[in-house]
Amino acid sequence: MAKILVCGSSELQEGNMRGFESNGHKLLIARIAGKVYAMNGICKHQGGRLYDGELSGKSVTCPLHGSVWDVTTGILIDFYDNLPNEEMYPVVEENGSIFLEL
Ligand code: FES
Repeated sequence: MAKILVCGSSELQEGNMRGFESNGHKLLIARIAGKVYAMNGICKHQGGRLYDGELSGKSVTCPLHGSVWDVTTGILIDFYDNLPNEEMYPVVEENGSIFLEL
């Protein structure tokens, strides 16, 4: 497992998200209630980029067809069909930087 620098802590403010690509992974990184989460950033429906969607609290809405996901768990919150959970990845925040373990 490699430890990969995402960005400085100050570059991800509370309630915000950003996309991040590394080693073929496309991830959504979000800070919710002070904690940083990393979720697979590609929608399990038809591949929408979730990090281009809208974040409200801990819910992100897919920009293509409106599925809603919990960015702290990867679980689908709302959609007309069942979809598998999005994968979650370990995040470490230390010394003013955010790192992923991929
Ligand atoms: S691609 Fe995300 S809801 Fe269809």
